[in-house]
Amino acid sequence: MREMGEEYHGREQTWLKHRVLEEYLAAWSHKLGSIPGPAVHLWYVDVFAGPWESQHEARADTSIAIGLRALNEAAQTWAKKGHKIQLHAAFVEKNPRSFPGLDSFARAAAGAVTVHTFEGAFGDHVDAIDRLVGADPAFIFVDPTGWDGAALRFIGKLGRRDRRDVMINVMYDHINRFKDDQRDFLRRQMRDFFGLDDADLPAGMSEDELMTFYRQRLREESRVPWVADLAVPVPTKERTKFRLVVAGRHPKVVDLFRTVEAKVIGKEAAQVRVDARARADESKSGQLPLLSPPAPPEDTSYRDRRQSDLDLVRQRTLAAIADGRQPHFRDVWPPILCEAHLTLHDLKVAVLELERAGTLRVIGRGPRERTIHDEHRLASPTD
Ligand SMILES: C[S@@+](CC[C@H](N)C(=O)[O-])C[C@H]1O[C@@H](n2cnc3c(N)ncnc32)[C@H](O)[C@@H]1O
Repeated sequence: MREMGEEYHGREQTWLKHRVLEEYLAAWSHKLGSIPGPAVHLWYVDVFAGPWESQHEARADTSIAIGLRALNEAAQTWAKKGHKIQLHAAFVEKNPRSFPGLDSFARAAAGAVTVHTFEGAFGDHVDAIDRLVGADPAFIFVDPTGWDGAALRFIGKLGRRDRRDVMINVMYDHINRFKDDQRDFLRRQMRDFFGLDDADLPAGMSEDELMTFYRQRLREESRVPWVADLAVPVPTKERTKFRLVVAGRHPKVVDLFRTVEAKVIGKEAAQVRVDARARADESKSGQLPLLSPPAPPEDTSYRDRRQSDLDLVRQRTLAAIADGRQPHFRDVWPPILCEAHLTLHDLKVAVLELERAGTLRVIGRGPRERTIHDEHRLASPTD
């Protein structure tokens, strides 16, 4: 497990966000860099770049550093195997006090990456970035401080092209406080964020309803089929700090995202939160640091979501095979993983349990095959 540095004390949610970003980017860039043939071009695009609240002298605790490092590491791996990758990054920062720091740091840390920096608001640079990236594969990170400037029409435009994965930080706790506020400027900003032209956000939505609504609007606006989110908790409390939303054209996007969620938000967050609570208790009581209690194997917030989503597998799978339908497994799992906080492996295990219980049949699975593959079909036991 990656060791969290002191620079993240008191803002462990940022560490978890950075770990998700790091793990996703590593897998994404390694996979795309492995395409044989002429040089592959890969882009990391960070449109609310910072540096922001960085406490590390070498800026290691920034998405700028994480993005550049992930690309450089992938390039080294693939260079050893004889594949050629051309790396590029684009960064946008609006704050004129932060921009010079972004520009100089990104150029100094670029390594093998060609760096482009844009000063100003994300929305003003969407077209230029869209043209620059063109048809190359790109990972686009949208990490606003609240919601202002992250209008869905901008994100939709960048995410619409093939081979672009988008990750958005939806500042849930912040949005939740203001989502039903009737002041004109706030209603306008919410409409922009959720991509609503003339309607307001439906009133009184729960966390899950709000996020389902956001995912749905993002799907429509970017015309991308696969959209999922995960919850980053407040480190010391049982509530959500923010949600990271991922969107892409290939179902693998959701498969990878759920694997990263299980690793970071499931396993790693357990220790991070136990330690964060111990530090908070120490500073309240003024006592000398004690050894943190052992962490559970899985963070409790993630475990609870995962458990309740196992019921969803049953509901969605039975709906998929209703009325005599016999869908391929490849058409069954992606929509379920968009909703459920499970890995593809969890989902396969749950479907095999349904088969053992006589609730469904798996067609095409050989006697020696222990798992389900995309080409297998699911069917009702009576069809
Ligand atoms: C949450 S911070 C980004 C943190 C960074 N992604 C990280 O993880 O290290 C958001 C940044 O976006 C900048 N910003 C705010 N509004 C913006 C806009 N409309 N366009 C581009 N940048 C903006 C802020 O100045 C701030 O530096």
